[in-house]
Amino acid sequence: MQEFFDRPDPVPGRGEVLIRVDVAGVNPLDHLLRAGLVPGLDGGRPFPRVLGVEAAGTVLALGEYVDGFEVGDAVFGFALTGGGTYAETTVLSAPNTARIPAGLSATVAATLPIAGTTAVDALDQLALRAGAALLVNGVGGGVGLAVARLAVGRELRVIGTGSTAKREHAEAIGVRFIDYTAGDVVAAVRELVPDGVDGIVDMVGGASLRTVAPLARHAGNVIAVADSTVSDLGGRFVERRLDRENLERAARLALDGVLAPVITAVHPLSDAPAALATVENGHASGKVVIKVA
Ligand SMILES: NC(=O)c1ccc[n+]([C@@H]2O[C@H](COP(=O)([O-])OP(=O)(O)OC[C@H]3O[C@@H](n4cnc5c(N)ncnc54)[C@H](OP(=O)(O)O)[C@@H]3O)[C@@H](O)[C@H]2O)c1
Repeated sequence: MQEFFDRPDPVPGRGEVLIRVDVAGVNPLDHLLRAGLVPGLDGGRPFPRVLGVEAAGTVLALGEYVDGFEVGDAVFGFALTGGGTYAETTVLSAPNTARIPAGLSATVAATLPIAGTTAVDALDQLALRAGAALLVNGVGGGVGLAVARLAVGRELRVIGTGSTAKREHAEAIGVRFIDYTAGDVVAAVRELVPDGVDGIVDMVGGASLRTVAPLARHAGNVIAVADSTVSDLGGRFVERRLDRENLERAARLALDGVLAPVITAVHPLSDAPAALATVENGHASGKVVIKVA
């Protein structure tokens, strides 16, 4: 069950900053946490809990042992201690929070902690050279389009899979798009790259991952962001870096325009259930955010 409720402003604990939330990112992780499937990830607090794990906003107060921020700073980062970001105020974890650089909007910044840094991490792990062929399985969602845009910026040849409605956004950023509802995905990729691809970043997992994984010339160059059983196939689960330095790097890439999230929906806080439902149906287009302030 989801409902709105009033709570006092959280008190920032050791290593936390209290922020006024401007924009909160919406992620599949939110409904997984709501279902109680990843209890260790956000402090394991009892329900009722506020949803949301990433946000951009303005610092209102600092907890003890917080370095690098002042009240009034515009920041973005992870709410890893259970504060929840679908809220007017919340606490972010200071080591997992960074300043928003001048020129970057809060809306874009709010998409960087999860989708933005996941894209950076997956491509860093693959370390493909310019000209290499990359398959992005599940290109149409928040992480997929971020991976694709960044990969195009690194001069990779990017092929992406998605359902019909995802073609336009993918092709607009230079992806060779394959509609998985229209036929044999493996045959369609082989038509473009008969010898297979140099790497795969997979957002889908399960049977879809198992279908496309053999397209990689080297099994170790299959990086999955959602399915840890990729190791059974010889591939690797994405190694995540949630620290401030990686957030700052993602912000610089966003400022340079090479990590440009495709934000397809901006909902007011009162529409948070609809925003999450869009993502929960498993076929989201780009990034969905909640504008709170
Ligand atoms: N490990 C981490 O730190 C980490 C970080 C971020 C995300 N994740 C996980 O990674 C996954 C993706 O995240 P996200 O934010 O990108 O989710 P998302 O925005 O919901 O996007 C998922 C995309 O996959 C597409 N898709 C579904 N089935 C497909 C199939 N068989 N073939 C190709 N595309 C398919 C969906 O649309 P269509 O089917 O309409 O094309 C949708 O666009 C989620 O499971 C999330 O929990 C993990």
